[in-house]
Amino acid sequence: MKSNVNLNRRRFLSQTGFGLLAFAGLPAALQAMQTADSMQTLPAGKASANFLADVEIELYAQASKLSILPGPATWVMRYSAKLIKGPSNTLTEIPGSYLGPVMRFQTGQKIRISLINLLDEATIVHWHGLHVPAEMDGSPHYAIAKGERFVYEFEMLNRASMNIYHPHPHHQTARQFYMGMAGAMIVNDAEEGRLELPSGEYEIPLVIQDKQFDSDNQLHYGPHMHERMTGYFGEQILVNGRPNQTLNLASRAYRFRLMNGSTARIYKLAWDDNTPITVIGTDGGLLETPVQKPYVMLAPAERLDLWVDFSGRKKGSQLILRSRPFSGALPAMAERMSNMMGGRGQHGMGMGGMHHGMSNDVKTEDTRMGGDYPILTVSINREVSDSPTLPSHLSQFKRYGLNDVANPKQPLPLAISEGPMSMLLNGRGFADHDVQDFERIALNSIQLLEIYRSQSGGHGGMGMGGMGMMSMAHPIHLHGQYFQILSRTAENPAAGYDTVKEGFVDNGFKDTVLVMPGERIKIIKPFQDFKGLFMYHCHNLEHEDMGMMREFSVE
Ligand code: C2O
Ligand code: CU
Ligand code: CU
Repeated sequence: MKSNVNLNRRRFLSQTGFGLLAFAGLPAALQAMQTADSMQTLPAGKASANFLADVEIELYAQASKLSILPGPATWVMRYSAKLIKGPSNTLTEIPGSYLGPVMRFQTGQKIRISLINLLDEATIVHWHGLHVPAEMDGSPHYAIAKGERFVYEFEMLNRASMNIYHPHPHHQTARQFYMGMAGAMIVNDAEEGRLELPSGEYEIPLVIQDKQFDSDNQLHYGPHMHERMTGYFGEQILVNGRPNQTLNLASRAYRFRLMNGSTARIYKLAWDDNTPITVIGTDGGLLETPVQKPYVMLAPAERLDLWVDFSGRKKGSQLILRSRPFSGALPAMAERMSNMMGGRGQHGMGMGGMHHGMSNDVKTEDTRMGGDYPILTVSINREVSDSPTLPSHLSQFKRYGLNDVANPKQPLPLAISEGPMSMLLNGRGFADHDVQDFERIALNSIQLLEIYRSQSGGHGGMGMGGMGMMSMAHPIHLHGQYFQILSRTAENPAAGYDTVKEGFVDNGFKDTVLVMPGERIKIIKPFQDFKGLFMYHCHNLEHEDMGMMREFSVE
């Protein structure tokens, strides 16, 4: 695998040609190589001959129109894909959805995916959660212009898990994601296979999103200043791209694979009859053993693997998955204003009138983030007598401890600073190849990182450990290998912390962690196999596009 890295980089450099502005951010050494490589004769977009792909996919990014709500069709930006080579279950369309097809891979497969940009603007696709070479990660440096093609080649090194593919061009990630570009990527492996978990029609990927439609059923991404700080929220909840999602299921066990595909909205998921939630996996795959929760928090880009057993439920009965009330995730001031404005607060400020498009749909639900509203309905349409049983042991993995890390006494900082229009990480906004010394990481090391709120940083009292008026929740994401959460400490919890604190699932592999105001979180993350730049950023995508994004240089 390691020997492919150079090859991949060379091929990447030649396939995109030279003179492209997208290259302005590459380091001088790479730019020099680019010029040298442009002497080679590989035509643009050519795959490398000595990468023998088991699976080959063409992935298109394009605008298209489809019906989402009753009435006029909606323009979206979306992924579609064509299987060129590989098992026939590699791609599964979600009927009627703008979401990209569910991709399914096996650990160990060699995968070639050609992204073909049919949009009128630059884009790049990132494999959120995958452990791939930096050049194959789809970070903003590699954005391709309209009409271009980018060939990704990598071996699937991930364990069984559900990951995300989504756009990552700088300053445009949130908008492209919001306009519909996203999909789920499921990885299967032998350890998971032995469990014989519910599969086929009994394994259901569920992507939860919130959108705002105008009176013509169109989406507009244009957050106002205040919404760039809090995040951009829509009052229409979509599951797999459809409103009012109802699943007609049998009275047996299912596997629900949840993904938060919203740009900023955090959900607190619970069943309406208070049936506990049984979690079997997180971002990075199966837990060691199942965990029961009264509710689960699901922040942008987080995933949860749930075992849901409808055994014994009567035909015709219904169960509703809801987002339940919580507070403390938004800046105190925004939360107060939102309460004053009643059930329509978040968009009422600046998006005036946009929700009227839904006025034929009498909504009494409080769809503000932190409100109480339905996500999806399960309707039991057939009673069956046999059902698989929940395995008591799910997977085996090494649990990292301080003995495993290179820096037990000096955690790498991931300091959040929160100021007006300047949500930052480690005191700086994103800039190309602006790597600070502590952001350089030795290849093949395992590192302790600490996420906390910066006490200093010149934001005039904003950073006081969760007490500041600007303090809010941030889903912090690191590219590359999954990490483990060593500890989560509520040092200085904000009001409302009690409404969320039982909903975290911290004992599995993660790539995104929700950091509430006043929390300090220690994580342990390996940086193995691949050199290069790997991003870390807030997955509140409004924050990310504002520059709450940095890079580690693995060297
Ligand atoms: Cu979900 Cu930088 O990505
Ligand atoms: Cu990512
Ligand atoms: Cu953030």
